[in-house]
Amino acid sequence: MKKLQYQFSEKVTTYYFDADFSHLEKLVDKKQAVLITDDNIFQSHQKKFGGWNTIVIQAGEAFKVQETIDSIIEQLLGFGADRKTFLVGVGGGVVTDITGYAAAVYMRGLPFGFVPASILAMVDASIGGKNGIDVGLYKNLVGTIRQPDFLLYDMALLKSLPKDEWINGFAEIIKHAVIKDAALFRELEKNKLGFYQKDKTAFSKLIRRNVVIKSTVVQKDEFEQGDRRLLNFGHTLGHAVENLYELSHGRAISIGMVAASMISEELTNFKDTDRLVTVLKKYGLPTQAEYDAKEVLDVLRMDKKKEKDAMNYVLLKKIGQGVVKSVPLVQLEKLLQSIISAR
Ligand code: GLY
Repeated sequence: MKKLQYQFSEKVTTYYFDADFSHLEKLVDKKQAVLITDDNIFQSHQKKFGGWNTIVIQAGEAFKVQETIDSIIEQLLGFGADRKTFLVGVGGGVVTDITGYAAAVYMRGLPFGFVPASILAMVDASIGGKNGIDVGLYKNLVGTIRQPDFLLYDMALLKSLPKDEWINGFAEIIKHAVIKDAALFRELEKNKLGFYQKDKTAFSKLIRRNVVIKSTVVQKDEFEQGDRRLLNFGHTLGHAVENLYELSHGRAISIGMVAASMISEELTNFKDTDRLVTVLKKYGLPTQAEYDAKEVLDVLRMDKKKEKDAMNYVLLKKIGQGVVKSVPLVQLEKLLQSIISAR
């Protein structure tokens, strides 16, 4: 088992790689912990939950809402949970977001940790401390920034991960490469999904490299005043189309990344949209979608990255180097329209 630690503003988070789920018993007191998972993970890995107090939520983004939090709070009361109770989210991004948020609000704050069970959660959703819920069409509109005590990586949990979810997770991996790590981008250009599915060592290394990229960015700018905003590459348009058209997160941000790189060609002289499109396609991700620029703009107006009449848009200077630019909404609408008509 390999260990990494990152010091955040209020806490050190410990990452346990190549670990086994059973190691959880060494990290938390079984009697004082409550695990939160979804019905898919619970069905596929039932044995692992033996002897643990467990709350099972319904799987899917549609359940990342206040009603699920209410139900968790009632079940925590049922378990007699108090401020010493430790919550552990075992699952993908919805489970980790919901768990972190429930932990932040129950009795004004419980400690928590994660066992990420999807690629997306391993490289992105479980790292960084932002936890929250969706409200109507607005993704992550309500939430907190609070770091987990630990992240435990048990690759055996990926055995039940459908291929679709592998593809979904690679969108965030490609995002990390294109905004921060040109060498990783070249590695992804050289390989393909099947290679990482077969080669466990290469895959574990890829996960750790992405964990390091994200954790380093967050550590330097936990409360998103600067560099952390780069992690939103593809997420502005991505979040809007995700909820409007019910796309999976990875697919939505893949479409968002292509739009952002086309906008970069106009505003930052970026030249490599074709390379990005080729890599996204190689990993099975969509690069275009039918969307209505006006409808999307209406959702963007509520985006957290908007300031007055402009949007802090993440663009690319070159492969491996993202940059944030304030783009007036009027100009953004025109750019989005021109992208749509260019297709
Ligand atoms: N929970 C994901 C993040 O903080 O970015």
